[in-house]
Amino acid sequence: MLFCQISDLHVKAPGALAYRVVDTAASLRRCVAHILALPQRPDLVVATGDLTDFGRPDEYLHLRGLLAPLPMPVYLMPGNHDDRDALRAAFPDHPYLRETRGFIQYAIDAAPLRLLALDTVVPGAGGGALESARLAWLEARLAEAPAQPTVILMHHAPFPTGIGHLDRIGLADAHRLEAVVRRHPHIERVLCGHLHRVVQVRFGGTIAASCPSPAHQVVLDLAPDAANAFVLEPPGFALHLWDDAAGLVSHTAFVGRFDGPYPFHDGDTLLD
Ligand SMILES: [Fe+2]
Ligand SMILES: [Fe+2]
Repeated sequence: MLFCQISDLHVKAPGALAYRVVDTAASLRRCVAHILALPQRPDLVVATGDLTDFGRPDEYLHLRGLLAPLPMPVYLMPGNHDDRDALRAAFPDHPYLRETRGFIQYAIDAAPLRLLALDTVVPGAGGGALESARLAWLEARLAEAPAQPTVILMHHAPFPTGIGHLDRIGLADAHRLEAVVRRHPHIERVLCGHLHRVVQVRFGGTIAASCPSPAHQVVLDLAPDAANAFVLEPPGFALHLWDDAAGLVSHTAFVGRFDGPYPFHDGDTLLD
């Protein structure tokens, strides 16, 4: 079982640049090409929110075309830049979107793994929330399959980063989620987006981790008053491999043209 996590695509209408700088559509196109060229084809792709920049129908239509080359199932989740109704309307052929009302929360059977997508969006707000109704759904799903290794997927990270402006649009109720996670040791990982960086934290007895954006990254400045700014560091996504002995093995893949690969030898001397 191998799956890709892409996040924070921020797709705009054709021809529009995010913040007048980032061609997010071209970034996603390169990311999709990279996924298709991986030596091992992932079984599925999850997109953990901020799929579009403004949640507009024309942006979702654009997103649909950009994701179309992916032959494996693609599971979409909303972020604070998304609009649930516009997302549902643009992807009527995605049954898990059709089957939900209100929050977009669903379970994916990806044997031997089970993936649970949580909706952390608060319409009109940058930060997220997980109040009782959403957590009750999670508790019920977790109780259904206590022997199956389970990955929680969500947009907002349930932990502080130290980057002031990101932490001000974090997840309310993170401590309540942590209490739920702690009660369910079959949770293998909590995977999120929103941070436009790779960050890992111990959380409820497991690991919570975010992945990079295939477009722009957030500046690594751990000041409370850090400027709210992005940087064009290497774009990327996460590649998660299930291993029966080790559990979930998470890699960060960088999208771009890099020198190499070169063999680990210089003529007759093996160096590895
Ligand atoms: Fe984002
Ligand atoms: Fe976000």
